[in-house]
Amino acid sequence: MKNDKIILGIETSCDETAVALVKNGTEILSDVVASQIESHKRFGGVVPEIASRHHVEQMTMVLEEAIEEAKVEWEDIDAIAVTEGPGLVGALLVGVNTAKALAFAKQKPLVGVHHIAGHIYANRFEREFEFPLLALIVSGGHTELVLMKEHGDFKLIGETLDDAAGEAYDKVARMLDLPYPGGPEIDRLAALGEETIDFPRAWLSEDSYDFSFSGLKSAVINKIHNAKQRGETLKKEDIAASFQASVIEVLTTKTLRAAKEKNVKQVIVAGGVAANRGLRAEMQTQFERAEIPLLIPPLSLCTDNAAMIAAAGTIAFEQGKRDCLDLNANPSLELI
Ligand code: KG4
Ligand code: ZN
Repeated sequence: MKNDKIILGIETSCDETAVALVKNGTEILSDVVASQIESHKRFGGVVPEIASRHHVEQMTMVLEEAIEEAKVEWEDIDAIAVTEGPGLVGALLVGVNTAKALAFAKQKPLVGVHHIAGHIYANRFEREFEFPLLALIVSGGHTELVLMKEHGDFKLIGETLDDAAGEAYDKVARMLDLPYPGGPEIDRLAALGEETIDFPRAWLSEDSYDFSFSGLKSAVINKIHNAKQRGETLKKEDIAASFQASVIEVLTTKTLRAAKEKNVKQVIVAGGVAANRGLRAEMQTQFERAEIPLLIPPLSLCTDNAAMIAAAGTIAFEQGKRDCLDLNANPSLELI
């Protein structure tokens, strides 16, 4: 009798075609990611049509590589977990249809996973969760504070009212003529610059856990325009450092306040922007001072991957979640 649970995860919500095999939700057997960044770079952002087409082209190869690398046979695999949303609908459909075809052909249970649950569970490869737990998810499409009382139980306590943090990074990067994706570029420049510009911090109401980045983005755009009109030159490094300082201060302060007010045992930072060196450093300093354990996944697990989907799928599978072959991609799936 085999007790180990081996879950195959599939992720195609944006511009990464990814398949992974995970044992018991905590051990990565394989984690293959085919990034499309090079194809989208010349357009300055992800082009949905191109993303879908690449997923179709890459999927079989990525799947075969993940299975081969994990050294498992189909009979060892207990279930297929797939990102059902949120994301780009055409991109999601490729993953969902692949998962459904495999579930049907190989007679395996199918488990739909929320992309954000995946980002949170990327941390479980590092350390076992302790509840209540607070997760800050910061990516190209999301900026959310999620409170978890137990496995699989997600309560949204704060979110962005406009742009996501990663989106703000990407838009500001475009203003500075930096290549896509802008986050890593601004991160790099910020480390070389100084906070010479006092950009606004969007605190919203005093007790709010929500975020807003569109005002900051406009402030950066205005600053660049005004400088141009006056014939002044601003250092890109200083704009990056000043912009990043605003983002980091708001993210860190609100997360810390929520962690204290909700009396949590652990805090998680997840999503692509969790790769940001400035954010990681500030979070580590602040949470060490507050003596609240902080988990941030290694860089490779911050951005989109399928190991995180398999990890979240393992919990859902163990809790009895099963989807039928009519599972559909849901671009605006709620986290519940
Ligand atoms: O989680 P992710 O790979 O995809 C989404 O689900 O959106 O996040 C991608 C986002 C992009 O906006 C990218 O610019 C941002 O994460 N990002 C960063 C860094 N690395 C990636 N933002 C700031 N600093 C970074 N080092
Ligand atoms: Zn993501």
